[in-house]
Amino acid sequence: MKKILVTGALGQIGSELLRQLRANYGTNNVIGSDIWQKEDEEGPFEIVDVTDEKAIYNAAKKHNADTIMHLAALLSAKAESVPQLAWNLNMGGLMNALEAARELDLQFFTPSSIGAFGPTTPKKHTPQETTMRPTSMYGVNKVAGELLCDYYFYRYGVDTRGVRYPGLISYMTPPGGGTTDYAVEIYYDAIKHKQCTSYIAEGTYMDMMYMPDALNAVVKLMEANPDKLVHRNAYNISAISAAPEDFAGAIRKHIPEFELKFDVDPVRQQIAESWPDNIDSSAAEEEWGFKAEYDIDLMTEDMLTKLQMK
Ligand SMILES: NC(=O)c1ccc[n+]([C@@H]2O[C@H](COP(=O)([O-])OP(=O)(O)OC[C@H]3O[C@@H](n4cnc5c(N)ncnc54)[C@H](O)[C@@H]3O)[C@@H](O)[C@H]2O)c1
Repeated sequence: MKKILVTGALGQIGSELLRQLRANYGTNNVIGSDIWQKEDEEGPFEIVDVTDEKAIYNAAKKHNADTIMHLAALLSAKAESVPQLAWNLNMGGLMNALEAARELDLQFFTPSSIGAFGPTTPKKHTPQETTMRPTSMYGVNKVAGELLCDYYFYRYGVDTRGVRYPGLISYMTPPGGGTTDYAVEIYYDAIKHKQCTSYIAEGTYMDMMYMPDALNAVVKLMEANPDKLVHRNAYNISAISAAPEDFAGAIRKHIPEFELKFDVDPVRQQIAESWPDNIDSSAAEEEWGFKAEYDIDLMTEDMLTKLQMK
């Protein structure tokens, strides 16, 4: 990875990944791109609509990129309100990104998600390879995307790599409309109001991860020895399995008066219930040394400190 083009770079993951990659590989070697632009962008940036067939190719060629990190997507909750648009963006964008990687012989990363699993997937210690029959449009896109990335590796030799991210928690950029967004909102509400109303029901466990672990995982996977990568495109990775009351408990260690209420959103609750409680990350640990540093208490301490400063 010497010159990296990132799509969807102004989203929750991209805005922090861009910073980390620029710190690691040099500001001018990381080209951000999105459908909009910030005024205070700190490095090279292109407007790239990933649904435009040639836009990713043109940006990658212009900057002589050797790697594409494809993040532009519509997330689970939003995708459910506009499923046809989600298919066009999530699948069309991925196809255009893979085609650019094939034509220009680039290394390729894109994240899948725990959303690729469905209600018939084993819920506990969900294996790397298991039943995948998701019932959300986002999940359908993610399973198809995993297979498409495998296909580009087997058929064309494109060096595709990826992880199944759990819900990601961060303090820099708000999340973009996923089912696990409550786990970010709870920290903002704890600081601002000392109370939060969760749209996910008590007792609903999902996998989560603090953003620094998610970013380190991308870099580690992309730098891993390709000969060791048996699974390549959809590694289960997780750090925390938690329900809303677990976040509340961790927050109360710092804000004892914090109160958690519930007003369940049936759409997001249904998606959450179709996802695993905790996934097994052992393939990622064995094949490229994945390791998460943050548990729920360490993450909570850091989130509250950083948000208070913000
Ligand atoms: N955040 C999470 O918790 C999480 C969990 C699992 C997987 N993922 C995956 O990681 C990737 C990035 O997620 P995120 O949380 O940063 O998403 P996000 O919604 O925060 O950001 C997506 C970005 O894509 C951009 N975008 C939208 N349409 C576009 C288009 N046509 N062309 C170019 N850019 C466009 C948006 O402007 C936005 O900046 C996605 O593939 C997502 O499915 C995220």
